Amino acid sequence: MYNPFSLEGKTILVTGAGGGIGRATAVACSKMGAVLVITDINPETLTETLSLLEADGDRKHLMFVADLTKEEDLNEMVAAMPSLDGVVCNAGISKVLPIQFLNAEDMNRIMAINAFAPMYMTQRLYKKRCINKGGSIVYTVSISGVSMVSMGGVMYAVSKNALDAFMRNAALEFAGRNIRVNSVNPSRVKTPLIQNSVYSEEEVAKDLQTYPLKRYAEPEEIANSIIFLLSDAASYITGHALIVDGGKTLS
Ligand SMILES: NC(=O)c1ccc[n+]([C@@H]2O[C@H](COP(=O)([O-])OP(=O)(O)OC[C@H]3O[C@@H](n4cnc5c(N)ncnc54)[C@H](O)[C@@H]3O)[C@@H](O)[C@H]2O)c1
Repeated sequence: MYNPFSLEGKTILVTGAGGGIGRATAVACSKMGAVLVITDINPETLTETLSLLEADGDRKHLMFVADLTKEEDLNEMVAAMPSLDGVVCNAGISKVLPIQFLNAEDMNRIMAINAFAPMYMTQRLYKKRCINKGGSIVYTVSISGVSMVSMGGVMYAVSKNALDAFMRNAALEFAGRNIRVNSVNPSRVKTPLIQNSVYSEEEVAKDLQTYPLKRYAEPEEIANSIIFLLSDAASYITGHALIVDGGKTLS
């Protein structure tokens, strides 16, 4: 049956696969026929994700527990990596802190996880020729900081803008090897990252009114956008930031 969105025959690496968007993406990719390589810093949640992946026939999914900010973990993982057709750089953290309270420790940590880890991982995979010709790299960026700003969101904004810039440069540099590079930029998604945040119920209710669709995204809705960019349906799309925001940035 004709299906340009199919991921059959593709091997896809997903970072931050222990929860939220990463888990939903890994599960959805497995349903689309891919072999998954999943990674996270948390062994328990990662093992749980592995048990949720659809597997049939000869498909054997792999998992690596790794702190992507640690040089040795990254090197070990890349050394053991099979050939990939897709890479989803998704692991990330968030912290709300107004400019007057900025400090080096928080700033270094958010930059290390949200910006430098995906950049160095991409570089290592590309240099080791782990990503096949025709492959696709997708970053989970955000509308926050890139398309809009919010109070106290400066560190997150700076880290995601850095990744947005890297995505565009990588798209240009990797095109010669026919590797596409894009991002999905969600607004708020119902994941632990948001559920454990500092916002009260009243603030959330008020915020929801600013969304034309009047709700936050489900992780699966972001996963579907990622599947599109990984698939051959997006074969002529590179260097693109796909906004998935329920209309949030319209007004
Ligand atoms: N949830 C949202 O509203 C939202 C909106 C826009 C963008 N995003 C982005 O989407 C991505 C996923 O977010 P989520 O909401 O699913 O968050 P989440 O907290 O549910 O999942 C993030 C995962 O990353 C892992 N992780 C954290 N630090 C790591 C490290 N050093 N090494 C390896 N793994 C690590 C965590 O263990 C966790 O499983 C993030 O990059 C986030 O910035 C989220």
